Amino acid sequence: MNAPSELVEAVRTARHIVVMTGAGISAESGVPTFRDAQTGLWAQYDPEELATPGAFRRNPSLVWDWYSWRRELVSQAEPNPGHFALAELAARVPRLTLITQNVDGLHQRAGSQDVIELHGNILRVKCSADGRIIASWPATNETPPPCPECGAPLRPDVVWFGEALPMLALNRAAKAAEQGDLFLSIGTSALVHPAASLAYVALQRKAVVAEINLDPTPLTAVATIAWHGRAGELLPQLLRDAFPGDAFPE
Ligand code: OAD
Repeated sequence: MNAPSELVEAVRTARHIVVMTGAGISAESGVPTFRDAQTGLWAQYDPEELATPGAFRRNPSLVWDWYSWRRELVSQAEPNPGHFALAELAARVPRLTLITQNVDGLHQRAGSQDVIELHGNILRVKCSADGRIIASWPATNETPPPCPECGAPLRPDVVWFGEALPMLALNRAAKAAEQGDLFLSIGTSALVHPAASLAYVALQRKAVVAEINLDPTPLTAVATIAWHGRAGELLPQLLRDAFPGDAFPE
């Protein structure tokens, strides 16, 4: 199935493409999404027990172990054709800003540069007391391990429910959403704010907003273009249609 012609045209003529990705782009890499029925993490686990500051205070070892399991899963995953297509796209357009809600680092591993991570990165660890990033810590049986500087428990450098997003990342993302002329919302349920509000900022600024997602979302009805399917198939197709004659790695 070819990409919608309006989208192909928008990609060819855009001066600044802003891309917002969510868990759906990593689904084909075997990283579970959050809200898909049956397979989504929040269908199996209670975010209140695992992904809030209160959960960490109540049961730090449970939270640490759950994130260690996810970190392991992410470390074993490989970027898929959707991630690679976005890295290829950046090389072919005047300007592209890639914003992600994902914490898996797969965009960077696919070659995307300067990725704006709105929700942190699961591969990084920080001190729960002062937020400083900790590269390594002495071997210990404690779970979570203590901060080598102050002894406070270490935690993953991800944003939990009820926490603020990293200010620099959010500011950069908001500015891009205001400036871009094409906004692509890819593999996200478009439910979690403030990330989800950036598409509306782009709409207000009269950018073309295109949704590329498996299922319809609240954004579908207002988006300029909605194209439903798997990101790992649709994004390489979009590149082939927008840049015919170029060779793309499969
Ligand atoms: P969700 O799990 O809410 O949504 C994933 C979306 O991806 C759904 O709309 C699916 O239809 C779609 N999808 C699934 N497989 C796909 C595929 N192969 N190709 C394209 N689309 C596919 O994930 P997010 O929107 O990323 O926050 O969730 C937002 C935030 O909620 C996450 O960053 C996380 C979570 O709580 C934090 O951890 C702070």
